[in-house]
Amino acid sequence: MEFQGALEMSSPINGDDVIKRGLWSSRFMFILAAAGSAIGLGNIWRFPYLVGQYGGGAFVIAYLVCILLVGVPILVAEIMIGRESRKNPVGAFRRLSGGRPQWVLVGFLGVASGFVILSYYSVVAGWTLDYFTKSVSGVYMEADVETIGGLFGGLVTDPVQQLVWHTAFMGAVIAIVIFGVRQGLERWIGVLMRLLFILLLLLVIYGLVSGDAAAGLRYLFVPDWPKLYTNEAGEFTAMPMLAAMGQAFFTMSLGMGAMITYGSYLSDDESVPGAAIMVAALDTIIALLAGIAIYTILFKYNLDPAQGPGLVFKVLPLAFAQMPFGRLIGIAFFLLLSFAALTSAISLLEVVVAHFIDDRKWRRRTATLTLGGVIWGLGIFSALSYSQLEGVTLLRDAEGQGMPILDSVDRIANNYMLPIGGLFIALFAGWFMKREKVKRQLLEGGGP
Ligand code: PHE
Repeated sequence: MEFQGALEMSSPINGDDVIKRGLWSSRFMFILAAAGSAIGLGNIWRFPYLVGQYGGGAFVIAYLVCILLVGVPILVAEIMIGRESRKNPVGAFRRLSGGRPQWVLVGFLGVASGFVILSYYSVVAGWTLDYFTKSVSGVYMEADVETIGGLFGGLVTDPVQQLVWHTAFMGAVIAIVIFGVRQGLERWIGVLMRLLFILLLLLVIYGLVSGDAAAGLRYLFVPDWPKLYTNEAGEFTAMPMLAAMGQAFFTMSLGMGAMITYGSYLSDDESVPGAAIMVAALDTIIALLAGIAIYTILFKYNLDPAQGPGLVFKVLPLAFAQMPFGRLIGIAFFLLLSFAALTSAISLLEVVVAHFIDDRKWRRRTATLTLGGVIWGLGIFSALSYSQLEGVTLLRDAEGQGMPILDSVDRIANNYMLPIGGLFIALFAGWFMKREKVKRQLLEGGGP
């Protein structure tokens, strides 16, 4: 059996494929693995900085609406497509559509999204590795706001450090996917996520008590609606709403088939909507906690919410530098965040690799090394986007300024590729898939 995961052969199952592939041993294991994919940099790095860029409470509400109205249904659709086909995304569309090329293309779009996202995800995960070592060495302890901000700038503009951390992270992802220590890792996800949750709670309490609780909460939860559809100059822009939807896709790992893959190992005895709601709830709670921790501290120091991708790295160390046991908490936090990023990155690479193994009959080792290598190579552009490639831009932001490569790639993947993928997934599940199949999938395991 090629597949490695926290799978055990459970209940008798329909279809030879399944017997060869195995199933999650329980609904709990499935939820853990899916949450391991969902919870990552999207919740703690990306969500808080987007909130700051797009104006606070109105964005948060738009995001929550997208999770509920778009995210949860698409998560249900993906799990259902996976469970019905028992295949990777490309194979799933091929099997369920009877090989129609337009649907197979949707599977390919997912594989392409996996390529693009992982290439820069690894660079940002590299930043968390670096901040883990910064915490160990204690460089930001007792430092002031400028020094801490400068540390981030120093890191992202240093090509050597950028490449070293990007390579280290991609290396770890590749090794895990090749050697199939996923099983070992998956046993840990539950513990690590609980720890991450507890640490975030601690940070939230610290932020509420010693930060500016009123300003932080107001910023996050009181909407200033025009910010959702106008830019600085007061002209209409769809960008904040697009970003809210893109973030809903990204944070729940939707629109590219990661959840199709996970669903393909879910037993028929489990309820799909129930599992989907659970994953969405866990993911959203983590993002909101991160937001509260960051903004209560940010307003204490009167920092600018619209800092962009450096936000979490510039703000949380301010808390670690001041709070009791701050150094230890900082070490644990960045270590756990690196693990959360790792479990998400594994699911990104697994989508790409699974297609080449299942459909093109590559060997796992060859597929992982080759595709992982290509993704690493692509990631070099993102890794150097604030140093060597500074000024090279793909997209422009609302003010017409060129965006660094990493930011551009992130926007292309999350605001466009994932939602387009999601749209087709929804069309497929709601329109093309046979009614009885959908009904059976939704009602199996006792329904919602
Ligand atoms: N959901 C992950 C995160 O929030 C990122 C991801 C996106 C993983 C798409 C897999 C697929 O960090």
